[in-house]
Amino acid sequence: TRNGVEFAVADLGLAEFGRKEIRLAEHEMPGLMALRREYAEVFPLRGARISGSLHMTVQTAVLIETLVALGAQVRWASCNIFSTQDHAAAAVVVGPHGTPEQPRGVPVFAWKGESLEDYWWCTERMLTWDGEGPQAGPTVPDDRTLQAGPNMILDDGGDATMLVHKGAEYERAGVVPSADENDPDEWKVFLSLLRASLAADSGKWSRIGAGIRGVTEETTTGVLRLYQLAAAGELLFPAINVNDSVTKSKFDNKYGIRHSLIDGINRGTDVLIGGKVAVVCGYGDVGKGAAESLRGQGARVVITEIDPICALQAAMDGYPVKRLESVLGEADIVITATGNKDVVMAEHMARMKHQTIVGNIGHFDNELDIAGLARYPGIRRETIKPQVDEWTFPDGHSIIVLSEGRLLNLGNATGHPSFVMSNSFSNQVIAQVELFTKHEEYDNEVYRLPKKLDEKVARIHVEALGGELTKLSKDQAEYIDVDVEGPFKSEHYRY
Ligand code: NAI
Repeated sequence: TRNGVEFAVADLGLAEFGRKEIRLAEHEMPGLMALRREYAEVFPLRGARISGSLHMTVQTAVLIETLVALGAQVRWASCNIFSTQDHAAAAVVVGPHGTPEQPRGVPVFAWKGESLEDYWWCTERMLTWDGEGPQAGPTVPDDRTLQAGPNMILDDGGDATMLVHKGAEYERAGVVPSADENDPDEWKVFLSLLRASLAADSGKWSRIGAGIRGVTEETTTGVLRLYQLAAAGELLFPAINVNDSVTKSKFDNKYGIRHSLIDGINRGTDVLIGGKVAVVCGYGDVGKGAAESLRGQGARVVITEIDPICALQAAMDGYPVKRLESVLGEADIVITATGNKDVVMAEHMARMKHQTIVGNIGHFDNELDIAGLARYPGIRRETIKPQVDEWTFPDGHSIIVLSEGRLLNLGNATGHPSFVMSNSFSNQVIAQVELFTKHEEYDNEVYRLPKKLDEKVARIHVEALGGELTKLSKDQAEYIDVDVEGPFKSEHYRY
């Protein structure tokens, strides 16, 4: 804690660099800046205590400062051990009007290269508001009272939501189950954190769960977890699925990946992509962006899919659709984008060509069997540089694994660029305002934002790009049965 601001970041001395990049990013994030203007002096998030778990990048810094500009108090952690940009984290702690000696910003618990223990410690700190000093800022009204506990969660991948739910569940049971020997390390570390937490305070997570008005979830994988909780009747508070706003998943997941996938491969390896055979596993929104990204560089892209509809889309887009086993011997690059587990196994990796690049761009690292790779008899791991490892098999051939199988666009590069994240994060801000101010109108279910708001986000970004929208005449609007001001499509329209 310094000047009343609690934090755990790599180096506050990086704040000035972070601030410069935040300033440039603000211009590229017209949606967030429009929301700041729209809500100036209104402070719809006054009284909100938002605990956020989302990659601590420059773009996220603009999101955080937008939430603060709308009146919220915020605490933040990253949702991945490799994705933090340390200068962005420092700048958020220092704030636009503070100095490293006298920070005046937002508590952040995130640095690039956390251990799993660090990760869950940061997530817990981000959700723990007791003893927190007041935040100061030029736009923040100073009449807010300090209360313990968050009342909103902003999540990416669902780890913060899971911590609250599992914590409350084990508190009710009075015991934290022991991990299985074969459980992933992540789960073992998670359970040991909960065990310590239960010993120190046996009601912490139930209290936090009861205080939360809602969660807004950023990504496909987190949304899946929310629907599972809701179906089991276990969701403790209402949720907004931000991912399935059209201006999120059809833009960030696709065009964001189209930008940041090759960025990660280039920064990690600097291998020429043109002419190489690249396999993309999964042809959903992320897979479509990934395939285009690689094809744009001249790679020969092959798709693997389980869903015949997405497989047919891939074929129509001109990509051969194969099983992984049939292309392993040719692949120079293998990327997973499925949101599923066990997609590329150690046995697959053992059969790849020398120096095949292997990476994942789905939310969790279990798409690649890194645990199996580490256990492979006679395997050797050599770190070339942070987030780039060469794994050599006993027969002498090796593969290059990016970011230990975690999201490589954030581990090896800097994630999606500002403009596309402005779309995603505008939906996040709108969803936070909606659930914070109208939580009584929602049940403990998963909701999506109305199409009208989706269209509003899109309109801001079309205009920022200098696009000219055609206006419907009243006659035309009646003919296609929509309102002149929208929404322009039915709910079942698929874009
Ligand atoms: P999606 O559901 O649209 O696409 C996933 C596709 O993978 C589906 O078409 C599915 O049929 C296919 N699939 C499932 N199992 C498979 C298997 N064993 N082999 C081949 N294909 C398989 O999901 P979306 O939105 O594309 O997201 C994918 C993952 O990427 C999620 O984990 C999501 O959270 C994450 N994500 C990552 C981002 C990043 O910046 N790295 C950005 C946005 C999402």
